Formats: sequence, C-alpha cells, structure tokens
Amino acid sequence: MKVTVVGAGGNVGATTAFALAERDFVKEIIMVDIEIKQGDKTFYPSKGRGLDQWQSAPIQNFDTHLKGSVSYEETAGSDVCVITAGVPRKPGMSRDDLLSINGDIVKSVTEELVKYSPDTIIIVVSNPLDVMTYVAHAASNLDKKKVMGMAGILDTARYRAFLAEELDVSPKDIQAMILGGHGDTMVPLPRYTTISGIPVTHFIDDEKLNAIIERTKTGGGEIVGLMGTSAWYAPGTATAQMVEAIMLDQNRIFPCAAYCDGEFGIQDLFIGVPVKLGKGGIKEIVEIELNEEETKLLRASENAVRSTLDDYKKLVNS
Ligand code: NAI
Ligand code: 2OP
Repeated sequence: MKVTVVGAGGNVGATTAFALAERDFVKEIIMVDIEIKQGDKTFYPSKGRGLDQWQSAPIQNFDTHLKGSVSYEETAGSDVCVITAGVPRKPGMSRDDLLSINGDIVKSVTEELVKYSPDTIIIVVSNPLDVMTYVAHAASNLDKKKVMGMAGILDTARYRAFLAEELDVSPKDIQAMILGGHGDTMVPLPRYTTISGIPVTHFIDDEKLNAIIERTKTGGGEIVGLMGTSAWYAPGTATAQMVEAIMLDQNRIFPCAAYCDGEFGIQDLFIGVPVKLGKGGIKEIVEIELNEEETKLLRASENAVRSTLDDYKKLVNS
C-alpha cells in the first residue's frame, strides 16, 4: 500500500503522514513538497520532515517507510493521494481569500498526481475546501467516488471535544454529524448528536448547546487567532482517519466533502455530507432525513459554497 501526501513539508501534510505512519498499515508514504530557495541555499522541507519521521520508526515501532521528495515520479502507483499543498490562513484572512492561489496549486498538483497514479483516490485538504475538492475532481478526470475533501471529520471532532469538556464525558462516546461547507455556514445537527446513544439534549440545555455550536463554526478561526496560523494536529489526524477507512475498507460513516448529484437536493457541487468510506472511496452518500430548519441551514451553506465556486470560475475565466 502506497500513499502520497503533497504539501508534506508543511504542517497539515506532515502531521497526516506521521499519523498514518503511526497506524502502521501503509508500506510507503511519499511526502512531496516544493524546494525553497533562500539566498544561495536551497531547502527541501518534505525531505527533511520525511527523514526526521522515518528516524522515529524505531522508537514509535512502525514499519511504514516515509520519504520526502520534490518529484512526482516517485509517487507512481499511489493508492491514495492527499493534497494539503497551498497557503494556510493567516489572521484576518478568510478561507475564500485563498481561492486564487490555492486553486492554481491544487489544479497543477492534481494533474501531476494522476499522471503517475491514474487510478488513485484523492483526498483534498487545501482551503477553501469544498471548492478545492471541485477543482481537484475537474483536473483529475477521476470518478466522483474517488475524489473527496476532508473537513467534516475535523469540524465534528471540534464539536465533540467542546461537548466532552462541557459535559465531563469521554470524547470517544460522543457521536455527531456536521454537514455543509467547511466554513461559518457549516450545519451541526444536535438532533443527530448522542452520548453513547443518549440524545445530547438529555445532558445539556439549549443555551449551552447553542454556544458550543457557535464555537464550533468558528473553531478554525479560534486557532488562527491563538497561533497566527491554522491548525494541523486535528486536521492531520482527521485526514489519516479517512485514508485508513479507505485502505482498510472499513465502511466508516463520516461527514466528507463529496460530489452531490441530486443528493439532499444539491446538484453538481462538492459539499460536506455523510458518506460510507471504504475500498474504492465513497461507497454511498447517506441521505439522512432533515427537518425544515436543518434543510434551511444546509441550503444556506450550499449557497455559500456555490458562490465561492462561482467566484473561482469567474477568476479562471477572466
Ligand atoms: P503549510 O504552509 O504549513 O503547508 C503547506 C505546504 O504546501 C507548504 O509546505 C508549501 O511549500 C506547500 N506547497 C505550496 N505550493 C506547493 C506546490 N505547488 N506543490 C507542492 N507543495 C506546495 O500550511 P498548512 O497549515 O499545512 O495548511 C495546508 C492547507 O490546508 C491550507 O490551504 C489550509 O488552509 C488547509 N487546511 C484545511 C483544513 C481542512 O479542514 N480542510 C484544516 C487545516 C488546514
Ligand atoms: C481549520 O478549520 C483553517 O480550515 C482550517 O482549521
């Protein structure tokens, strides 16, 4: 089994690679990034990260071989490719500010990846997530089941972590689902939130739950405000969880950005929906029942993602 992570000289990519290596089921991880020139020196961040991580194999007890590279030839035959290449959010920057720069990067990276791994599965992480996933799919010519974006697992993990803290229960016991685009219009679903099967409303009043929902929606920005750049531990581990579900054919049910072709009334758009993830990629979009209010929120989120996609299309056609 072979995985490529592009952007792996950076924070999310490197964390994804390491989280995967620690799970110890992948034979080889190729960590691609660009070279950085500073004066008369050239640095190779993904080669450095790869070497450092591989040197922790004897300590962390894994066999997965990690290797940094600046060449796509070395990625040939990858079962799954993760794209974290791009520019992260800085304070005051919205995800959509990243549109033009990251659009160009994701398109060119995807074209290189499929040249050497024409049957691969692609997981996009670069922001703005839902639109970048659309860009990767268009550039790849792969089946829609084989291209997806990571965001819902992260957003849901933040929601679960906040709830666990508030309720003083294990985060492991909190099951939840967040739909919609990766942004402030994401749609947390309290009706589908349980603590070991018990509805969350048994444990918490509306006011506290709403405060947690609002904090979740701005969870990415909260970290940017604290660190001056965006998160990587939770995003990297969330991405590794998706790779694992696919490669070990686990049939996990996760919220992921998937191509909707009428599901939830959404046409021709990548957006966060519940999917069954296993061998081959997205086996199914799980169309759960939504009430009037939930549907209204999902429509608003759909409109926000579509408007960013329209902006992107205008940019590339201008
Ligand atoms: P980073 O700056 O640490 O890493 C990005 C890496 O991409 C850098 O090492 C850079 O050299 C590399 N890169 C740039 N152009 C490239 C190219 N053409 N080919 C190969 N590599 C290239 O940024 P970080 O924090 O790792 O974030 C990466 C992306 O992931 C950003 O767009 C960020 O907004 C996004 N993100 C998305 C999340 C999600 O939930 N979907 C969560 C967290 C971050
Ligand atoms: C996050 O949610 C910035 O999308 C990134 O942390």
